[in-house]
Amino acid sequence: MKYRRMPIEEESPEQLGYDKIRYNLTESSVRDRSLRDLGIEVADMLLFYGDHAGHPGFREQLAAQSGAGVTVDDVLVTAGAAQALFIIATSLLDKGDHLVVVRPNYATNIETPRAIEADISFLDLTFEESWRIDPDKLMALVTPATKYVSITLPHNPTGVTMAEADLRSIVGRVEAAGCRLLVDETYREMAAGALLPVAATLSERAVSVSSLSKTYGIPGIRTGWLVCRDRELMGTFLAAKEQIGICGSVVDEEIAARAFAQRDVWLPEIKGFIAQQRRAVADWIAGEELMEWVEPQGGVVCFPRIKPDVPVDVDEFYRVLNDVHGAYVGPGHWFEQSRRHMRVGYGWPLPDELAGGLAAISHAVRAALTL
Ligand SMILES: Cc1ncc(COP(=O)(O)O)c(C=O)c1O
Repeated sequence: MKYRRMPIEEESPEQLGYDKIRYNLTESSVRDRSLRDLGIEVADMLLFYGDHAGHPGFREQLAAQSGAGVTVDDVLVTAGAAQALFIIATSLLDKGDHLVVVRPNYATNIETPRAIEADISFLDLTFEESWRIDPDKLMALVTPATKYVSITLPHNPTGVTMAEADLRSIVGRVEAAGCRLLVDETYREMAAGALLPVAATLSERAVSVSSLSKTYGIPGIRTGWLVCRDRELMGTFLAAKEQIGICGSVVDEEIAARAFAQRDVWLPEIKGFIAQQRRAVADWIAGEELMEWVEPQGGVVCFPRIKPDVPVDVDEFYRVLNDVHGAYVGPGHWFEQSRRHMRVGYGWPLPDELAGGLAAISHAVRAALTL
């Protein structure tokens, strides 16, 4: 493995220091919650080694919400979706092995295969094509040697998603090709429209990954999961998890189980808030002649850009944004894209903070014009 730090982590708000940020538009989750918000008391929790596959009650809940055909044995709890992605990549790939990944993407989906020195074919999504994943273009990159195809739905950093028919078509073609499909579903429950099925319910060749970090605003308990109905592969995933850390934190998993049990109350509230915040960004962009976007269809991030014909000093833009306004976004280079693009997270800031951050972007673009 050849590890290197990713800009998205090195320059993340928690590494920079939350106290230095006035308008935080970098987050890709809803606002963080406390144990008190959740009504959870931990004083009597016994600190034993937990079930290696994860808290059984939590896995049962996850299996039940995943949909038809998923049982508790098809669910592995992991330290965040990030660990699930690591387990999958290191289980399926050796140096030189081929995979197909969409780009831009959440950085780990690209960086772990790179650290393994795998042979990556990218499907480069574009603003001009509305960041759409075209199933034909994606599957044209598959060769007989391909180990897996990796997509993220809804997508990070654009918030774009896919029609269910396209997902089913990709699943069918992956099966025919004899490779596997990884679907990073971390934002699945935050779709603006109908929820896509959990990909693992569609095929034994599909692996779904998700997490409590984004939708539920509890990334600090580092709890995610993967779902897969291929029992042999699940054995490999469990072996990987055991070598990384034997089992997960029993405290984290107990909190996760109790938090997830409240989701019927939380989800409508969260989705209502996100919809309201998304409208605020849509209103801003409609009145902002120097910027454009592809409207997101899910999640809590979007990926607007400074219009191509606007002459701007991009470094000056970020300097003014960060140093003058104390406003932060996810700059394009976090996603291997031009820095004229920026990821704007609209689910974490409160309405006033979002409005202040968007106004700061408008001001910083004008301050950096090179006319
Ligand atoms: C698409 C996607 N997958 C996975 C993760 C990792 O999340 P976590 O490890 O906190 O569950 C993130 C975090 O930003 C993400 O955006």
